[in-house]
Amino acid sequence: MMRLLVTGGAGFIGSNFILYMLRQHPDYHIVNVDSLTYAGNLENLEAVENHPNYSFSKTDITDAKGVDQLFRQGIDVVVNFAAESHVDRSILEPDIFVRTNVLGTQLLLDAAKKYGVSKFVQVSTDEVYGSLGKTGLFTEETPLSPNSPYSASKAGGDVLVRAYHETYGLPVNITRCSNNYGPYQFPEKLIPLMISRALQDQPLPVYGDGMNIRDWLYVEDHCSAIDLVIHSGRAGEVYNIGGNNERTNIHIVKEILKELGKPESLITYVEDRPGHDRRYGIDASKIIRELGWKPQYDFETGIKETIRWYLNHEEWWSRIQSGDYQAYYAKQYGTRL
Ligand code: NAD
Ligand code: DAU
Repeated sequence: MMRLLVTGGAGFIGSNFILYMLRQHPDYHIVNVDSLTYAGNLENLEAVENHPNYSFSKTDITDAKGVDQLFRQGIDVVVNFAAESHVDRSILEPDIFVRTNVLGTQLLLDAAKKYGVSKFVQVSTDEVYGSLGKTGLFTEETPLSPNSPYSASKAGGDVLVRAYHETYGLPVNITRCSNNYGPYQFPEKLIPLMISRALQDQPLPVYGDGMNIRDWLYVEDHCSAIDLVIHSGRAGEVYNIGGNNERTNIHIVKEILKELGKPESLITYVEDRPGHDRRYGIDASKIIRELGWKPQYDFETGIKETIRWYLNHEEWWSRIQSGDYQAYYAKQYGTRL
């Protein structure tokens, strides 16, 4: 039986990935390893908590002993989602990003090398490439040029993964995906933040001129790409993942307001994010050509489904928006809203 170690499985993409993999491969055993930071939520996995092929371990990937113990049980494949993932938080507190995204990755690599695995997949991001001008796309050959403490820490993790392949022959892949959206995304990120605030008739903080561009992918399409990389990715290779859905932020915010029947007067332009990348756009032709990946969701369908999900899961996001979230929000936006 294939034993898959999924780190960060209680977060947004990790939990979607576990649900996806247990549907696609019910015979695989999935070990979910998560330290349950503010972003980790086991509620996302209630549907599988009693699944015979699912287990959970509350372990911090920066705890070398804890990580070693996990690998001692026998692990075939590692998929490393665990990370501090929010750019704005990285601007406020960079240190934890370096700890988890760089040191945590290195400890996982060390354990994978010590015990041996058939594949180590590092889930990275297009943000390591920096920012694009008006034209062009990120390819796997685009030089790394991260601009935020978050993307710099992800780039640090990526180059360590590469080095463990070159130096020790560890069979690795790095995936670099564009912005994900869908169910269970923490409401600090653009789409769930705007949906939840609009539903409460609160002002919607749009950074700068709202014309920054992100390339959006429905989370399930990211999961199917990682599944393919686990099974068919050539060792040592990087695969970009993206659905060719570039949109300005303001377009997305207006789309959400229209879908919810809320007024555009809720839009509030606020001070820009420092070092704010202007545009991301992914060239995903390598994974399409080599592994036959095909995204299933077009943006207009995906965003409508996502809005519906947040409408039907108000309890999920309202619980999150109490407590610590309020303190973060006050620190992040201060009196700007
Ligand atoms: P998330 O913040 O929703 O989830 C991160 C998870 O990691 C949480 O469950 C958290 O508890 C866990 N975690 C954090 N530090 C940990 C530690 N030290 N030990 C163990 N667990 C820890 O993030 P996400 O949006 O689901 O992103 C998952 C991964 O995908 C990240 O590596 C991120 O860089 C990458 N990524 C995200 C996107 C996106 O649009 N969200 C796009 C491309 C790549
Ligand atoms: O590109 C992949 C990356 O996408 C992932 O690696 C990151 O983990 C993920 O957080 C995401 O990073 P972004 O910075 O692109 O996502 P965020 O949702 O924070 O912001 C999206 C855009 O919306 C960005 O241009 C900033 C803008 N924004 C964001 C927030 C939270 C606003 O205008 N207002 C806001 O309140």
